[in-house]
Amino acid sequence: MIKWPSRLQLAHLPTPLTPLTKFSEQFEGVTLWIKHDEQTGTEVSGNKVRKLEFCIAEAQDQGCDTLITCGGVQSNHCRATAILGKRLGMQVHLILRGERPEVPGGNLLLDYLSGARISYLPQRDWRTHPDFAAELQAQDAAAGHKAFFIPTGATDEIGLWGYIAASAELKADFERLQLQPEYIVVATGSGGTQGGLTLGRELFNLSAQVTAFAVSDDASYFRNKIIEDVTLWKQRYDQDFDLERLRIQTIEGYIGPGYGVATAEVFETIKQVASSDGVFLDPVYTGKAFHGMVNELRKGSAGALSGARNVVFVHTGGLFGVFPQQHNFRFD
Ligand SMILES: Cc1ncc(COP(=O)(O)O)c(C=O)c1O
Repeated sequence: MIKWPSRLQLAHLPTPLTPLTKFSEQFEGVTLWIKHDEQTGTEVSGNKVRKLEFCIAEAQDQGCDTLITCGGVQSNHCRATAILGKRLGMQVHLILRGERPEVPGGNLLLDYLSGARISYLPQRDWRTHPDFAAELQAQDAAAGHKAFFIPTGATDEIGLWGYIAASAELKADFERLQLQPEYIVVATGSGGTQGGLTLGRELFNLSAQVTAFAVSDDASYFRNKIIEDVTLWKQRYDQDFDLERLRIQTIEGYIGPGYGVATAEVFETIKQVASSDGVFLDPVYTGKAFHGMVNELRKGSAGALSGARNVVFVHTGGLFGVFPQQHNFRFD
């Protein structure tokens, strides 16, 4: 029996699971499905909302009135936290990696509009961000506030619950649709979505393999991070689970020029999926993972998705990240 922790209801759930009808036609005998987690909300959309349901509940249980979190300048997670914090009557402080742009766009525009306090740390100093967060917590405490720190991507033993719960939702989806997919595919950046699904697959006896496409870091990084988070999850929540059961699969080779920088092929894939089925991917996460999935499917039995007949792609959101990169799309 799973012992669940406190949880807020912040995401619009369950999200739909639908076939990607037109785009799938090019693959003989394979149907692609989309789990629409880009529809967990409008401004507060994507995978991070599922994790924040547990992280912010924990913050409130601890009596905190302020949230501090961190990420890239175009972080979807920071945007979701900034908006949710305000909706829940909490102060929000974001620590963003990089320089302040002249004109804020995409996610950053929403961060500013929602009135979050924003600090920038240059890339070269980024490893000091936990110290900076601790300084902010101390300043808040001196001013009579209590601040809760949520790590990058809400990826820790608390945020893990988001995609453990999503695995239970997927199980119900599969039963309703009488679907037995061979693979659940997702983009992995800080590892928490992949970790939650990989653990949830075991907890809820799903037969599909969770296959994550890296958009940053390598497979060993994600293995270590997931094992670390699941170990802490077991300790913190007194859960009985044998770590040997985790089947962690991370596909490398689709990061392209770097985190947040995509090749022309990824932009082309985004255009194709939008124009075939009206589904919008982003160039930082979902576009790269989707492009990787398509490439592996085309390799057939030699690819990472061999034997696939039904593949569920978890659409983790990221639409606001399209706009700051609009100049990379080519239209005839
Ligand atoms: C749109 C989107 N997809 C996927 C991810 C990856 O999720 P995770 O950080 O849990 O690996 C993120 C965040 O990093 C994201 O914003």
